[in-house]
Amino acid sequence: MARNALFRLLPLLSFSTIISGIVTPRATCSNGKTVSSAECCVWFDVLEDIQAHMYNGGICDEVASDAIRLTFHDAIGYSSSLFEQGLFGGGGADGSMMYFAALELNYPRNAGIQTIATVERPFAELYNVTFGDMIQFSGAVALRNCPGGPRLRFLAGRPPAIAAAPNNGLLPGPEETVDVLLSRMADAGLSPSDLIDLLASHSVAFQEKVDPSIPFTPFDSTPTILDAQFFVETLLNGTDWPGDGEHIGEAKSPLDGEFRLLADHRLARDPRTACHWQSLISHPESIAPKFKRAMEKLAVIGQDANSLVDCSEVIPEPEAFEVPLPHLPAGKSLEDIEASCPDVEFPHITADPGPSTAVPSPTHIENDRLPVQSK
Ligand code: HEM
Ligand SMILES: *[C@@H]1O[C@H](CO)[C@@H](O)[C@H](O)[C@H]1NC(C)=O
Ligand SMILES: *[C@@H]1O[C@H](CO)[C@@H](O)[C@H](O)[C@H]1NC(C)=O
Repeated sequence: MARNALFRLLPLLSFSTIISGIVTPRATCSNGKTVSSAECCVWFDVLEDIQAHMYNGGICDEVASDAIRLTFHDAIGYSSSLFEQGLFGGGGADGSMMYFAALELNYPRNAGIQTIATVERPFAELYNVTFGDMIQFSGAVALRNCPGGPRLRFLAGRPPAIAAAPNNGLLPGPEETVDVLLSRMADAGLSPSDLIDLLASHSVAFQEKVDPSIPFTPFDSTPTILDAQFFVETLLNGTDWPGDGEHIGEAKSPLDGEFRLLADHRLARDPRTACHWQSLISHPESIAPKFKRAMEKLAVIGQDANSLVDCSEVIPEPEAFEVPLPHLPAGKSLEDIEASCPDVEFPHITADPGPSTAVPSPTHIENDRLPVQSK
């Protein structure tokens, strides 16, 4: 009978827990914060340390940009076709970039990744978290620091990598054709639209290695924003080389001192991707949520997401941000747009007033940094 009474009590109990909002037992961390799982506590310590000592107080500079790129370069090391051939296809978002740094950081397409991989590593060692987790966590925090960036879900518990990503060819090169790029993405489980959504990251990107003749301009405190401008400007008719001429993987850019990747140029115009590309300009408010979805997919490539622990609550809420309307840089008109989606008219965006824009930081990949209204 006692058993029965207990059975009758249970539904009541769970009812009241739902009402008070406590669905799962919560753990209290040493900083007083409560989390759904004690395994999440360590990430508060990592957060505080990297915001202060890696991200220069939590800003969106080239360190943040590098950390975002690293999430991709670690994760894309996964090939289902290699596995199908009975070969090792890589562990995806497994931290192999750091566990097997001597090998992977020498893959030519990881040029520019070495510094951030070396900077993140000691934090992971200090807090005893896996490199795979560290890379994806650092990327999520970097995005949270970039105006317009979404707050990503963060899952912890990736096991250490067992081997290096098999080869350089799993990383996409900027000189590749759209065919090659899309099939490489598909081989890692990403659709053409996923790739275009992910390229919003190039709105906060710099280049140093594709055209080394352009002197690297250190971050100049002009806000770097995750917005539609990258998608707009990539469709402008390219007029000149920003450095000493054409380099492999480079396309002509439309603005003084701006840099365009050939892959971005082609993806903006290819029949398979152009309409999705343009839709992000028509719906700038969709960029951040779509980017978030694709980044969360990326973060678990090669991983068993069900065995990971959700520690999203450690990622601080981003600052409020008003999505800016896409615009044409001053001096440009819709005539300069190489609209490439046959089905849908290009949105009627207008140009900024004034003389043509010179981009303050020529290493920025396709993003004119115009002043943003401060709030
Ligand atoms: C078609 C696929 C892609 C190609 C060919 C590509 C290529 C490149 C290249 C060549 C650079 C410049 C590196 C340098 O010279 O220093 C770069 C930078 C960057 N990429 Fe991509 N990328 C691709 C996709 C992605 C994706 C999916 C992400 C998303 C996470 C991403 C994030 C970044 C970031 C944040 C930077 C700037 C890094 C920095 O500031 O140093 N890229 N990319
Ligand atoms: C680090 O983490 C691993 C795996 O969770 C654990 O086995 C090990 O004891 C930890 N090391 C230290 C020094 O805490
Ligand atoms: C783009 O500019 C080139 C000159 O750089 C010109 O020949 C071409 O017609 C232009 N294309 C469009 C679509 O305006």
